[in-house]
Formats: sequence, C-alpha cells, structure tokens
Amino acid sequence: MPTVTFLPGYRKVEVPRKSTILEAAQHANLHMNVVCGGQGKCGKCVVYVRSGHVSFDVKKFSKLFTPEELERGACLACQTQVLNNIRVEIPASSLVQEQKILIETMDIETEFVPSVRKYSLSLQPPSLDDPTPDITRILDQISKEGGPEARHIYAPLDVLRSVPQILRQGNWKVTATVAIVPGGYRLINVEEGDTTNRLYGVAVDLGTTTIVVYLRNLITGEIMGTASNYNKQIGFGEDILSRVNYAKKPGGLERLQKMAVDGINEALTTVANSAGIDRDDIYEVVVAGNTVMTHLLLGIDPGYMIAEPYVPVVRRALSTAAGRIGVAISSNAGVYTFPAVSNFIGGDIIADILTSGISEQEEISLQLDIGTNFEVVLGCSEWMLSCAGAAGPALEGGEVLSGMRANPGAIERVMIDPETLDPTYTTINNIKPRGICGSGLIDLLAELLRACVIDRTGHINMWIQHPRIRSGRYFPEYVVAFAGETDGDRDIVITENDIKNLVMSKAAIHAACTTLMNAAGITRDEITGIYFSGAFGNYLSKENAITIGLIPEVPLPRIHNIGNGAITGANIALINRKKRKILDEIAQKITYIELNAEPSFMDQYTSSCFLPHTDLSLFPEVQKMLDECRIRRGS
Ligand code: FES
Repeated sequence: MPTVTFLPGYRKVEVPRKSTILEAAQHANLHMNVVCGGQGKCGKCVVYVRSGHVSFDVKKFSKLFTPEELERGACLACQTQVLNNIRVEIPASSLVQEQKILIETMDIETEFVPSVRKYSLSLQPPSLDDPTPDITRILDQISKEGGPEARHIYAPLDVLRSVPQILRQGNWKVTATVAIVPGGYRLINVEEGDTTNRLYGVAVDLGTTTIVVYLRNLITGEIMGTASNYNKQIGFGEDILSRVNYAKKPGGLERLQKMAVDGINEALTTVANSAGIDRDDIYEVVVAGNTVMTHLLLGIDPGYMIAEPYVPVVRRALSTAAGRIGVAISSNAGVYTFPAVSNFIGGDIIADILTSGISEQEEISLQLDIGTNFEVVLGCSEWMLSCAGAAGPALEGGEVLSGMRANPGAIERVMIDPETLDPTYTTINNIKPRGICGSGLIDLLAELLRACVIDRTGHINMWIQHPRIRSGRYFPEYVVAFAGETDGDRDIVITENDIKNLVMSKAAIHAACTTLMNAAGITRDEITGIYFSGAFGNYLSKENAITIGLIPEVPLPRIHNIGNGAITGANIALINRKKRKILDEIAQKITYIELNAEPSFMDQYTSSCFLPHTDLSLFPEVQKMLDECRIRRGS
C-alpha cells in the first residue's frame, strides 16, 4: 500500500492505492475543510503534492485555483487519487481552524430539581435473624431516607455485582445514587462512605460542527465550567448528508459514533480537570443534538432517514447507560438524549424552543436556526408548525469565492461608504482578513444594495467606474480587501456568482417562513417575535437580515437572539427534570410540514429570489430606505 506523508508535520499513513488524499488525511486524523462534502465544488481542500504520483484532473477543476496555485501544483484533496508513495503539503487554510464557538447560555430561571440524587445510608449488617439480601437492604433504606419505593428502583447487574464488597469494605456505610429515568428509577451507583457532597451533571450541545459542554454541580446548581470542541466527525464532511453517507460504509457508523463520543469525552475531561473533579462523580449527561447526531451518538444507523420514506429509528427521549456508548463518566449514569419531531426537527430545535419559550406564549412567534440547513418553527402555546430545508453552504461561507467559516481573520462586519464606495470592516480577533464569514456576507449584500453597487436582482452595476468594481476572472466582482491588506496573496472579493448563491440561500429561508405563515393563515403583522438561535443568528445584523429579505419585515425590537439555544435547553433539562415532560409535549405538539410536498413553496422561493423580494409591499421600510438611497445617488 502506498504511504502518504503529510507536511508540515510529517504524519504518515498507509492507504490502499487510488484512495483520495482526503481519505488518507482522515485516516491520519487530520481534519480538513470539506465544505462540499468532498464533491469537488467548494475548493476548500486545496493541497500541494510535493513528490510521488497522483491522479487529478487539473482541467476540470482549474476554476477553483489561481494561476499561481496551479503553478505550485495545487490540487483538491477530495478529488486526487494516490497512485504511489507521496508527500503532500496541507496549507493551514485547508485545515479546520479554531472557530468562534458560541458557548454562552441565556440566563433563564428555572426550578432546581435534578433527576439524580444521592442518599447516605447507614445500614444494619445482616445476621441470622435478619438475612435480608444486600440489595433489598439498600433499596429499603433509600425509601426510608425519603427516596422512591424500593420496588420501583431498578438495580442493573453490574451494580449488583459491586454491592457485596462495597457494603462490607465500607462497614455498611455507603452512598447510593438514584436517577429518575423514563418509566421509573435506576440505582446507578453504590460507593463506600458518605459522598453526598459530590454530585455533578453535564449538559451537552452536540452540533454537527461543534460540541459545547457545561459541567454543573447537581447539589447547588452552580456552573463549574464550560468547554467546547470540534465534533471530530467534521473531517468526514461538514454537512449531515455526508455523515449519513459515511455511516453507510463498512465500519463508518462505528467510527462516527466513536468520534462523537470522543469529542464529548475530551470536552468533559477538560472541564472536569479544570474544576478539579473526578469524572466518576458525574452522574448524568443531557444531550441536545439534531436527529442524525443523536442517532450517531447512540450508534443507531441513520441511513433510512435520507431515503424514501425518510424514517428515523427513534424520536422519543432516551436515557442510555453511559458505559454502553463509551461516555467517560460513572458507567451506569444516564445519557439523556432530547426527543425529536422529525428527521430534520431534532432535539436541538426542541431545546431552542424550551429556551425561547415560544411554546408557552399566547402570541405567535417565529424561530429560526440557520446553517447549511435551516429549521423554522412558527407558533404559540396552542399550536406549532415547523419545516426544514437546505440553505446551501453560502451563508456559512461555503461556495463563495472568498467565503470562510467564522474563524479568526474572517470579515464579520462590513460597511460601505455610499459616497466613496470603499468598505470598512472588522475581522474576528482583529487580525488581517482571510475571507468573509456569514454575518459579513449578509452585511455586504445589504451594503452593496444600499450603495446601489448591486441591483435588486443581485447584478453588479458595471457602469460604475471604480477600482473595486471589476470584471473578475469569471464573474463581475467587488473587491472588499486588496491582497496587500489581507493575510494571504489573493484579493478578497464578492462575485456576482457568490451573490447569486447567497440570494438563493436567503430566498429558501424566507420562502420557508412564508410557507408556514400561509399555512397558519397569519401575516407578518401578527408575528410578535422572531427568535434566532445558533451562531449565525447571534452575529447577524438584524437590520441587514431584513434589508436583504432573509426574514419577514417586523419592527427590529421584535427580533431576538437566543444564542446557543441547544446548550441553554440542555442546561435547563439537566437541572430541572420537570421540563423533560414539557420537551415531550413540545415534540408532540409540532406539526412538520414537508416543503417539497408544499406546492406554494416554489412560488414563494421564486418571489424571494430578489433583494429583498419581488413584492416590495412586504418590506415597506426597506422600500423607503432603498428609495432614499437611490435619490441620494441620483440613480
Ligand atoms: Fe474538496 Fe469541497 S472541493 S471538499
């Protein structure tokens, strides 16, 4: 088998001949950017072959490279086959970078009633007069201490196996930990002595890209620390579909399951170490994740979700023993996974709803979670409708020439002077710009529209004589930063093709909102709140989101960011077990609308493929603003 040596770290791996360089990188545990899932579309997995033979169709993909890159031997890792021993250089820009991960929770007051409790027990040793079995002795004493009735507590086999020695070594003074699980109670641990002052739980947001973990004291409710990490599955594709497809390969499901668990374990080890606690004192993990991530974490095949008739294996909330799936905490402790509504409306969205509280309000609200895929929920305490769809990678910087994720160096805010047409921008970590991330792209669209550099169809006005407005290599483009001011050797631009991709993405989201509103028979005036969850919504300019027609026009004070709703929801469910019942109710209440089966969706989509929309009466304030801009520019 050929050996692939990756530079600059000289990591070596052997792969079967004709494997792609991307596959080799995955084997070497190098996490490359695979924004398009390895389809040769995004150009984010550029590598340079330094020696050896490979097979790569330069002509077919030449559009994705600059002439200089081609001259230096650039190729796409996902499209290049290894033919014999090679040395290949992966530039830093092709590796997954440290990302701005949204870890803050909203400060929501909730009752403190965790589902796990410890009981300190002083037991009478058995005698000939009292030959009560060990476990009965423990369970009876738990009841006497105010716990559940003994007959309702299930004791797993490995706890039974541990009990005789622990009781005797501990001189009949032990601590028993009992958890409330669906359908009853579980004795999850018995240990020597009194350890009732050590009881911790962990809330987890298991995202497709990132994992966020909160460690909490389950006696006081105190947050002991937080940590975040990449979802290690990212090297197998950034989108859900690539993961599901990888899971179908031999050994793929096991590998992805392990990676999800490894990501959680790493984050919880970090947080436990810095808080100075033992992982064995963690007695519950509550995980909010989308439906595919939840399946993968539990090692359940998600493959049938992407083929007709699109069914998941499970939708209900589950509590699985940590030891069974490899989560490194007390082995019988439960890993609680949120319920889901459908393949696409998963536990993360239910957690968002718990956080935003829209299911408890009489007024109607809209809730959006935007990434490569989007999920929209419309409703109130009486009813809720939901839908989901593909927004495409453009809003996250994929399939946009100078697009990038929200990593250091990404342009995240842009303003354009309407007189000079020159931009001012800020980047993440205030370093030289490397590209533009989603929030920057939304700003750019809105600002270019206000400055009349682009029209409502997204075309660049090439009549404007300006050094930043030029024909470009393949498409007309506007230069946001010239190479000299950037961190690389390329100008950072937005092309007409990028704008088209962005408009299509925003159109899909707006059309989804309108489809739900029409199904419910409500107008934008009846929407009293729009809630954005997730990183995209958090960094987005609300005003610019309306200007480009990403969301219906409502007064700005009605738009709220709930931040990382998934981790907030997971925290609530960790410390307040009563809310888990509400999660089930939310999941039951939501009606899922399949957009592909909704005939009006395509019409809505087509009408939304303008900035902000073909029907300007839906955006009266934007119309006023655009009229003023036009008058000012005399066009
Ligand atoms: Fe290789 Fe997109 S071009 S992952």
